[in-house]
Amino acid sequence: MAAPELVGIAEIAEIAGVSKQAVNNWRLRYDHFPRAIQELQSGPVWNREQIEAWVRGHQGEATHVLSFINLKGGVGKTTTAVAVAEMLAQEHRKHVLLIDLDPQTNATVTLITEERWAEMDRDGRTVAQLFEDRLNPQQAPRFDIERAIERRVSTINDGIARLDLLPSSIRLIDLQDRIPMIALSGNFTANPLEILRAALQPVIERYDYIIIDCPPSLGTVTKNGLRISTGYVIPTIPDIVSTWGIYQIVANVEAFSRDIDRPIPPLGIVATKVQGNNLHARVMADLRARRLGRFADGGGLDQPVMFENAIPQTVAVARGADVEADIRTFKGKYGDAYTALHGLTIEVMKKCEAKKR
Ligand SMILES: Nc1ncnc2c1ncn2[C@@H]1O[C@H](COP(=O)(O)OP(=O)(O)OP(=O)(O)O)[C@@H](O)[C@H]1O
Ligand SMILES: [Mg+2]
Repeated sequence: MAAPELVGIAEIAEIAGVSKQAVNNWRLRYDHFPRAIQELQSGPVWNREQIEAWVRGHQGEATHVLSFINLKGGVGKTTTAVAVAEMLAQEHRKHVLLIDLDPQTNATVTLITEERWAEMDRDGRTVAQLFEDRLNPQQAPRFDIERAIERRVSTINDGIARLDLLPSSIRLIDLQDRIPMIALSGNFTANPLEILRAALQPVIERYDYIIIDCPPSLGTVTKNGLRISTGYVIPTIPDIVSTWGIYQIVANVEAFSRDIDRPIPPLGIVATKVQGNNLHARVMADLRARRLGRFADGGGLDQPVMFENAIPQTVAVARGADVEADIRTFKGKYGDAYTALHGLTIEVMKKCEAKKR
């Protein structure tokens, strides 16, 4: 039998019509990427036939990028975004990147220790540094996407193998108002809405899911997240005040999506911190019937559907970083909310994967 024809990374890139960087990302992302059959001095080599078959079957499985948004603070955006990211990675073996766009850094410090964060912040390994570099184009850039991404984060299992984090920094507070000015600064031509997208380009292919935890606003930083989003999730407490801004979010995202000429559909509304009182029951019924406030009053937009799983208000989630809690397991970290968060993650995954074709 003739020996198989061997190909290296550069040839695989040529076969697939992509960059070598993309091939390296596939190797990291897909367990089913063929195993190299030999390590030569020039690098690993593969069997050409196996590679060709894989490339034919692969057909660019797109990365799902989901923003978790609500204009109201404290409605469980961070809690649900982090839980969904952890569960996609741990329970469904997806490669996941969580991006923290909120200067409050809540998602960051639930996934890594404050000491670790402080060290990363000093080293410019946060999204704040990314924006700061663009605001000071006369200085040498410090942000490096490969170094800024922290791998194996979360307290679950002392770190989840496929879960990565791009941290935020409180320094974003001072920067965020100046970000819209970037287009005007000096001879710099960067579009202030494209900064995150450009920075992620080398790594995006590595992930099945990118989950973005947004601040409670629709400013330039959030829009940087929406710019790359393939969909968004609206966590809300089922009460009047928390659901107030949902129409505004949907209208704004719709307008932004038209501006950039790219669909950003709402995946759904998820009820959070649900309590067994009459008010919550009534608002939940309106949400399920898709007749929330202005949507029902002929605002011109359809209310996004509800996720079936609603997240109950629980002691385990509220006590958060309690050292007594066994935060290394999902049951310890989320208590009675675990089942709903687990179900929500499956719903998110099914909706994303149904959209693929
Ligand atoms: N299901 C829940 N049960 C009990 N407490 C919860 C639940 N979900 C969230 N919380 C608590 O409510 C507070 C706000 O939650 P979270 O930080 O997730 O909201 P957020 O929308 O991200 O807030 P912000 O707008 O400040 O970013 C936190 O203290 C969190 O621990
Ligand atoms: Mg938050």
